[in-house]
Amino acid sequence: MLFRELEKINSRPEPFEFYTASDLWTDDHTSQQMLSFHLNEDIDVSSRNAKFIQDSVTWIVSRFGLSEASSVADFGCGPGLYAARLAEHRAKVTGIDFSRRSIQHAIAAAGKGGLPINYVHGNYLEFDTEERFDLILMIMCDFCALSPAQRKTMLDKFALFLKPNGHVLLDVYSLTGFARQEEAAGYELNQLNGFWSPKRYYGFSNIFKYADEKVVLHKHTIVEPERIRTVYNWFQYFSPEAINVEFSGSGLKAAEFYSDVAGNPFDPLSTEFAVVAELS
Ligand SMILES: C[S@@+](CC[C@H](N)C(=O)[O-])C[C@H]1O[C@@H](n2cnc3c(N)ncnc32)[C@H](O)[C@@H]1O
Repeated sequence: MLFRELEKINSRPEPFEFYTASDLWTDDHTSQQMLSFHLNEDIDVSSRNAKFIQDSVTWIVSRFGLSEASSVADFGCGPGLYAARLAEHRAKVTGIDFSRRSIQHAIAAAGKGGLPINYVHGNYLEFDTEERFDLILMIMCDFCALSPAQRKTMLDKFALFLKPNGHVLLDVYSLTGFARQEEAAGYELNQLNGFWSPKRYYGFSNIFKYADEKVVLHKHTIVEPERIRTVYNWFQYFSPEAINVEFSGSGLKAAEFYSDVAGNPFDPLSTEFAVVAELS
């Protein structure tokens, strides 16, 4: 019995076999933990630190020449840390996120600041609009959590939603980051200081590497007295060439590469890189 459960816990699924992002971001307990990480200005968990976000917004405004005439869509906007700052530069901003808790925080913050941001609560894989954008953002490597089919869905949407001279800016994990990942397995009582549940639980974590696909899986099995649930966090790692191939399949051209979404120069040794794309 226990042996069978342990075999399941340690089993390696096919790449992107399960999509459980909502268990992480929209579950009542974990979304609260995630929001507190977003709002901690000193750490790079859920959102990057406050100084980075400020530098990033300054660069974005200048690189894309944002003004009150610009419309921006932020996919996976979280509590609106970029959206609010971009709206302060008078851009017209739409933010989409499926975490009700984060969107509620974003709406309240925009209300306090008198910022007319259009926040949409929903799954961005199903988002649709008649509006067309000068700039589309997907920040903090959210693109890497998606399967190849989901990424194609998003890139097709981006191509459709862009104005003719518009741009996409997103960041991804690099092959340098992939090389640094190692497989691991372990468990802990109330793993991550109660992150997964307010009740007593055993948290099992398995890290699997898929060498051919350049994918890493962080598989979390949370064992509580009445239930066992499994959360799959997928990480797709990219070369600039692989990005070119995926983007061109949706009529987009990766025009520029940087080390990050603050416009720092591209460095092949960086564990992440950012892409600026346009319609091809
Ligand atoms: C790593 S956080 C980054 C948040 C924000 N971009 C930032 O950097 O501050 C990823 C965000 O994407 C949202 N998200 C993940 N998958 C989503 C989906 N399928 N539809 C809508 N939002 C999603 C999560 O709720 C979370 O707020």
